Amino acid sequence: MKTGGHQKAIGVFDSGVGGLTVVKELMKQLPGENIVYFGDTARVPYGTKSKDTIIKFSVENVKFLLKFDVKLIVVACNTASSIALSSLMFHFKIPIVGVIRPGAKAAVRLTKNKRIGVIGTKTTVRSESYEDEIKRYDKSIKVIIQSCPLFVPLVEEGLIRDSVTKEMAQRYLEPLKKAKVDTLILGCTHYPLLKYIIKDVMGSGVNLVDSAHQTAKEVRGLILEKGLANSLRGIPRHDFYVSDEPDNFIKIGRRFLGKALKHVERVKEDV
Ligand code: DGL
Repeated sequence: MKTGGHQKAIGVFDSGVGGLTVVKELMKQLPGENIVYFGDTARVPYGTKSKDTIIKFSVENVKFLLKFDVKLIVVACNTASSIALSSLMFHFKIPIVGVIRPGAKAAVRLTKNKRIGVIGTKTTVRSESYEDEIKRYDKSIKVIIQSCPLFVPLVEEGLIRDSVTKEMAQRYLEPLKKAKVDTLILGCTHYPLLKYIIKDVMGSGVNLVDSAHQTAKEVRGLILEKGLANSLRGIPRHDFYVSDEPDNFIKIGRRFLGKALKHVERVKEDV
């Protein structure tokens, strides 16, 4: 699908359904933009996989999005951004935005006591991507990181305000509370859906940084700066592609996006 000039879509990829939190923010902050989303639902989760595998999948995902002649690519997945962003930027000429830097930058701006907490998947935590980014801005900040592996399945099961989720949040967040962080980065696509419980456990004095929101802000800035905004009026297209049966994606995706997903298609060939 070739489109002319600024009508070109923003390409977004994620390991599955979670990246729709980023799409939701993009739709809010850039309501005139066309979006092509790819969710690698056949190979999710990325959060437990090795570096090599994540880089390989991410390169394939970008190649798939490039078939749509997109103008910019957003790596909505925190795990893929942590592991693969530099390889992607090296391989491809198109502007590529990850979710780590926008979240880290916002947290550095917000913290008063220079103690920032980060939660994410095991691979994101192991990669130390958030620490590296935060330290680029301010070396004196203490970063406390914690993986929360059960949050992703709990969100996908719809247990967003459930007592089981609250119990897990209390366990996972205890070390961050003890460390007295005043800012906490939600470093995974799924965690914005748990904001309510996380806020409840951490207390109202702790700033929560939603990396999806911050990333959309960054993309908006980039699009305006580069003069890439879609100048055509009318209803923008939002197309979704997945690598497995779309049924579950459509069902769960509705919760992530806050509305029904139209135009969801399974990619038949290898991506
Ligand atoms: N999208 C992933 C992330 O943001 C969470 C799901 C997965 O493990 O693939 O890290």
